[in-house]
Amino acid sequence: MKIAIGCDHGGFELKQEIISFLKSEGHEVKDFGTDTKDSCDYPDIALPVAEAVTAKEYRFGILICGTGIGIGISANKVPGIRAALCSDTFSAHATRQHNDANILTLGQRVVGSGLALDIVKTFISAEFEGDRHLKRINKISEIEKKYSK
Ligand code: RB5
Repeated sequence: MKIAIGCDHGGFELKQEIISFLKSEGHEVKDFGTDTKDSCDYPDIALPVAEAVTAKEYRFGILICGTGIGIGISANKVPGIRAALCSDTFSAHATRQHNDANILTLGQRVVGSGLALDIVKTFISAEFEGDRHLKRINKISEIEKKYSK
């Protein structure tokens, strides 16, 4: 599976662990940075990852910052992106099944790396259920259209 990943300085160490894990599982991972622990701005990383995912260059995106919140808010500004912040495996499974989430966001200061890797594994392997959930996804798209220029 092709996966895009990015983080700010608050998520750098967890990003490196997730990349190693995904590669060891045979996935193709594109790292959009950041490449150091120096302070940077999470929207600058969220945007290229979100654009690559919405362009369908990658099946999923994974974005990490200190909380997972700022980077997720940023990604969700890109039409077609449904970024979900998950700190437990139940939510990771449910957001794929119900919301067809295409980006997982994680907070390095919130979850330990063992749990984070379980969340990643759960998120990328769960399937969207469609059916009644599709109608709701379409309504999200309608909101995007209403506010796009
Ligand atoms: C950076 O200090 C921190 O604000 C950022 O990683 C993130 O938690 C923002 O939502």
